[in-house]
Amino acid sequence: MATQDELKQAVARAARDYVADRLPLGAILGVGTGSTANFFIDEIAAIKDRLGGAVASSEATARRLAGHGIRVLDLNDVDAIGIYVDGADEIDGSMAMIKGGGGALTREKIVAAVAGTFVCICDASKRVQTMGRFPLPVEVIPMARAHVGRELAKLGGTPKLREGMLTDNGNVILDVHGLSITDPAGLETQINQIVGVVSNGLFARRGADVLLLAAADGVQTHLR
Ligand code: A5P
Repeated sequence: MATQDELKQAVARAARDYVADRLPLGAILGVGTGSTANFFIDEIAAIKDRLGGAVASSEATARRLAGHGIRVLDLNDVDAIGIYVDGADEIDGSMAMIKGGGGALTREKIVAAVAGTFVCICDASKRVQTMGRFPLPVEVIPMARAHVGRELAKLGGTPKLREGMLTDNGNVILDVHGLSITDPAGLETQINQIVGVVSNGLFARRGADVLLLAAADGVQTHLR
């Protein structure tokens, strides 16, 4: 029985091969954040000479990329990102995701918005029928924390401040517990309308295009 880390390693390797096969020589790669993304970063060190550079979705990812000698570019200095590779906390059958367990949701959403193809890399435990068991992260301007919390409660969730954590953008995270997310795109839009919300961890309007899912019997490829 493979451990979760072995599954992450296997899917990271599959994503490296996907990038090596499909990203044109010299094109820009977007790189996500989290433990699965870290395995991927370590894998792409082997193909770094094929890349024009990488755009990172967090300071931590930028540091890890640079540690491998991979050129890190500012998003404002690139015209296009061919492929974005990132993990997820949950992914449903429509390829909508909850992300932000590591707190990098806003930068992840920005890089994903620019990318031509979003490749989600997960172990099988992340695949769900209905999202919401994993608390939904919402990045909030600090002075709006209480207001946003009250508004999120009206949507049926229980928001909890992620203690001792500030995002790379200097904001706080409210993790919303107890949601059953049957309309991910609708809820994503609704939460974005709350004044003081920077972004939320629902990636439904821009979901994944490709899912590489690691299970005990190998890595499966799912297309949107
Ligand atoms: C980071 O903010 C997240 O969106 C991650 O992509 C997500 O939490 C998955 O992380 P793991 O690969 O560590 O489970």
